[in-house]
Amino acid sequence: MLFEKLKEYSNSGIYPFHMPGHKRTDGNGLPFDIDITEIDGFDNLHEPRGCLHELQKNAAELFGSRYAFALVNGSTVGILAAVRAMTKDSDKVLIARNCHMAVYHAVELCRLDAEYYLPDTVDGLGIFACVSPEAIEQRLSADPAISLVVITSPTYEGIVSDVGSIAAICRKHGARLLVDEAHGAHFPFSDKFPQSAIQCGADAAVTSLHKTLPSMTQTALLLTNSDELAQEMKRQLSVFETSSPSYVLLASIDRCLGFLKHSQSAFDAYTKRLTAFYEAAGSLRHLSVPYERLLKSQNVFDFDMGKLCIFGGGCMSGKELMDILRSDYHIELEMALGDYALAMTSVCDTDEGFDRLLNALREIDSRCSGANHTAGFTAFSLPQKHCTISEAVNKDGEMLDLYKAEGKVSREYVRVYPPGIPMIVPGEVIDRDILSRLRELEASGNEILTDSSAFPLISIIS
Ligand SMILES: Cc1ncc(COP(=O)(O)O)c(C=O)c1O
Repeated sequence: MLFEKLKEYSNSGIYPFHMPGHKRTDGNGLPFDIDITEIDGFDNLHEPRGCLHELQKNAAELFGSRYAFALVNGSTVGILAAVRAMTKDSDKVLIARNCHMAVYHAVELCRLDAEYYLPDTVDGLGIFACVSPEAIEQRLSADPAISLVVITSPTYEGIVSDVGSIAAICRKHGARLLVDEAHGAHFPFSDKFPQSAIQCGADAAVTSLHKTLPSMTQTALLLTNSDELAQEMKRQLSVFETSSPSYVLLASIDRCLGFLKHSQSAFDAYTKRLTAFYEAAGSLRHLSVPYERLLKSQNVFDFDMGKLCIFGGGCMSGKELMDILRSDYHIELEMALGDYALAMTSVCDTDEGFDRLLNALREIDSRCSGANHTAGFTAFSLPQKHCTISEAVNKDGEMLDLYKAEGKVSREYVRVYPPGIPMIVPGEVIDRDILSRLRELEASGNEILTDSSAFPLISIIS
């Protein structure tokens, strides 16, 4: 095991005339003693033959893929490397519009020509529904040049798409499928969770160990079953990922894999806790934590029960709920958007943690009165594309008030929280519809973000 090997080395008395500069001295609480560089016996992440090769082999076995790349720059670097490995300059790609910014950055860096698909929202809940296989079929039939489809499944809120059907459609049309599964690293470890993207036939998937498993921040995996893709991914990871990977993070991945090998009873206990929580939360009168309702929604294929989406039920916004839980109950949630706040759970949560959250929700619920409904987010018409993202950002620009920029082509992203996706992407024409939608969203308290921090000024192509 890598952690034990590092500890043994640290205690061996060997003097470090090499990086890092702290020389494994007392880390004042930080793990300097196991923070090394690629010295003899500790392999090389970019050309693994020894202990890191072993680690990646273990990861592949546990996650059910032929290849697994250990990542120390988060799913972000996995997405950049995977998109690059799966495309050539100026390829046409189809991107679900609710993808993470890393996907857009990959499109820009790889000079791709992106088309977008905007998923529906779940009726009345203001969160994105799953990606519709029919819509993907229609888009790929209409444009045979599309060579890569990128979707996010599960979403931040736990909504899972029918990856099996989407993968089959992509195969039929000669396109590849990359799934951003950053929030689904726990899926392979209990049959109470949805099937993982690789098990469903995706060509590649990226998953963040640090988000839902016991592993340190930035640890993630890039998975594929394809020999050809694995070869190219390895090359691209040496382009995008640090040449000084942290052994502390690699040891964390190794430990996480060690835990997963014998985790059945821990996951059984976790899913039992979740089931009990949903059952008990069913008696809340105003607040709600939907599970069955989400599973039964017509445009939700599957749902990750580990994500607790707590809705204010018209009594309070998600942000108000999150603030009350923090100030009155010392419970910090992951985030709040519109009508709901999101509690992210994991196999490391305790009975005591779930009880505290449930009791807090019961108390808040008993005090609820009146209606203070925040309008949920609904779909919008995507602006027309004038040029690709990379063409737009490489053109000369000038700053203009967004609301006076009708008809101009943006050189920036204009993002809205909620739902945190780009309403305008570089290269898109700022039209009247999108401006009035942005005005409405801003007026109802949503945050509008642009790349230059000078909103409402944005850069447009001059
Ligand atoms: C859906 C999704 N994809 C990718 C990422 C990037 O993951 P990481 O933080 O591991 O780089 C995030 C981060 O929040 C995310 O939510």
